[in-house]
Amino acid sequence: MKSIKHLLVVLFVSIATLASADEGMWLPFLLEKLNEKQMKSLGMKISAKDIYNINAGSLKDAIVSFGGFCTGEVISSKGLVLTNHHCGFDAVQNHSTLDHNYIRDGFWAMNNGQELTNPGLYVTFIVRIEDVTKAALNGVTADMKESERQAAVDQNIRNINAAAKKESYQKAFTRAFFEGNQYFLFITETYTDVRLVGAPPAAIGNFGQDTDNWMWPRHTGDFSVFRIYAGKDNKPADYSPDNVPYVPKKSLNISLDGIAEKDFTMVFGFPGKTTEYLPAIAVKQIAEVNDPAKIAVREKALAILNSFMRKDEKIKIEYADKYALVSNSWKKWKGEVLGLTRTDALDRKKKYEAEFQKRVDANPQWKSQYGNLLTEMQAAYTELEPLGLARDYHTEITNRIELFSLFNRIKYVQQSRGKPDYDNILARFRDSLNQFYNEYEPVVDKKLFEGLLPLYISPRVKEVTDFAKWANDIYDNTDLDNGKATLALAQSDPDALLQSLETDKAYAAYQEIIADYNTNILPRLNTVQARINQLQRTYMQAQIEVFKEKAFYPDANSTLRITYGKVNGYTARDAVKYDFNSYLDGVIEKYIPGDYEFDVPQKLRDLYVKKDYGVYGKNGRMPVCFIASNHTTGGNSGSPALDASGNLIGLNFDRVWEGTMSDISYDPSICRNIMVDIRYVLFIIDKYAGAGHLIKEMKLVHPKGGR
Ligand code: ARG
Ligand code: ASP
Repeated sequence: MKSIKHLLVVLFVSIATLASADEGMWLPFLLEKLNEKQMKSLGMKISAKDIYNINAGSLKDAIVSFGGFCTGEVISSKGLVLTNHHCGFDAVQNHSTLDHNYIRDGFWAMNNGQELTNPGLYVTFIVRIEDVTKAALNGVTADMKESERQAAVDQNIRNINAAAKKESYQKAFTRAFFEGNQYFLFITETYTDVRLVGAPPAAIGNFGQDTDNWMWPRHTGDFSVFRIYAGKDNKPADYSPDNVPYVPKKSLNISLDGIAEKDFTMVFGFPGKTTEYLPAIAVKQIAEVNDPAKIAVREKALAILNSFMRKDEKIKIEYADKYALVSNSWKKWKGEVLGLTRTDALDRKKKYEAEFQKRVDANPQWKSQYGNLLTEMQAAYTELEPLGLARDYHTEITNRIELFSLFNRIKYVQQSRGKPDYDNILARFRDSLNQFYNEYEPVVDKKLFEGLLPLYISPRVKEVTDFAKWANDIYDNTDLDNGKATLALAQSDPDALLQSLETDKAYAAYQEIIADYNTNILPRLNTVQARINQLQRTYMQAQIEVFKEKAFYPDANSTLRITYGKVNGYTARDAVKYDFNSYLDGVIEKYIPGDYEFDVPQKLRDLYVKKDYGVYGKNGRMPVCFIASNHTTGGNSGSPALDASGNLIGLNFDRVWEGTMSDISYDPSICRNIMVDIRYVLFIIDKYAGAGHLIKEMKLVHPKGGR
């Protein structure tokens, strides 16, 4: 009887672990230990060593952090890198002029000489990862204050990084995982000569824009192509015309055989930030307090931007980017609230906590260690609520008002005076001023000030009754909203510009708002936050101990992770079921001639009419996007989607609306990542752009025996 019970427990446990097979952003160097068996049982045909191996080329050697904000992958032996259109967009925009409008028309280098350099852009490879937890926590004791602990850990980390074995051209850094319960060292190689090779027109690369963003069905060819250049020794080197295409340790093979529903997939990349281990009360705050506040500020900001962009073509162009940026998170948070609500995330957390408490209470040692943990968190988060809300309003509002960001930049230059690299800082400041004023309209900014500040919560702002008057007072009394004059002054007499800040009325108002926040909110916020950090760390440790049967993955922190799942449609809501892939037919269905978001280039329409898909089409149709249950987040954009054998089948770029709460609570029934099918990427490069020479660099394979 006892052994049957034991068997049942084991069975239940393994089912429980498998049930959440799709959830998790796993550490590549722990795959063999934690995931390999499960991955194979789900269909993976390669080994964990093929994915991560420090002694031989493995898939991880083809993956790069692209500019620190996205992911890219190497797809040829000559350093060709693929990432998203929205990840490479800045580069495309910087090279665009009215005569060469690469955003509108796309850009394709027909030989290496035509590739375009991008100062500031870099890609980073991970050479190896090591667990350095013991050394990082050396001398740390349980009774230390949070600030003391942090100081001790910081010092340990400096020592670890300095002692790390690496080549002179490599870097070492250490990051905290599991809320500071573990620390891993990363040895990296960063290449800074990254050239633009090609990008489709925005009508393909950003087809559907904000309306389709975070949505399925999707029809976006969200990709762009770069090339890594290295010194003659293949090592990282600053830009030089003498640099040569980088020869990678590994480049991805590309499958032409496409995908079928239920196929195993994995996504390899650099997810930015998740918070999967919050207590129920924190999730409730996000859904009911923080997200709604942030949504409200952005809603107002978007309405203001929109009112100008609608009636003024110039403003529309200038603010298109900013609008997309504001709208992106706004839309995501709305989906997040919806998803948390629909999937009863709160209820699930509460049940999980009840089970946690039950197990803790049944074990005397745990009870003394963790018995009050949930109650203490409840208290701390309750204290956090008004402060967190004030923080969100503060950040959201001050970030939207561009004059404020200008002040910050000027302040920074002022504070850098006398430093050795001051000349550089000043030069960069002048460049950034140029960019700033190219896309800045004082009338818009003033309206944002007037419209958003009434939402601000603070004693000082609460006194104000006439926001229009306040805005007038400020914007009529600053010279900094005058681009021409400010730029001229930055050139002729930068000191005078820095000086002018001191007498600027707008700056005075800004300082008042900041001082108010810094004295009335920030100190209390930091105190509670430090307590919460400590509690979350203990809670994390406790969960790992108490739920021994469960494999835990650390929250995303912009480090290299692998996630796996399967190609799969989903049921979005009652009676609405989505297929797993989309076709070019859908692009044509959405086509609105001349539209800002849904125009389709003539050439693409022609290819559609002729069904001229080459080897990339399937049964007379051209696949465009597909979805799967891989657990991804911001930063995973540009990540490769790989098949069971590690071949490239797609490029990750988004998630579905109903599942954006996966950053807080993953639900396999509706969380889906969106990828552009690699065959669509190749079709656009080859058939649309006529850049077949790039295809010749790649290794195309037929893992399913297709032709
Ligand atoms: N939602 C995706 C992400 O979070 C894509 C954003 C870029 N596309 C856009 N239309 N704004 O980054
Ligand atoms: N679009 C996101 C990115 O740019 C990916 C996501 O949030 O799913 O990284």
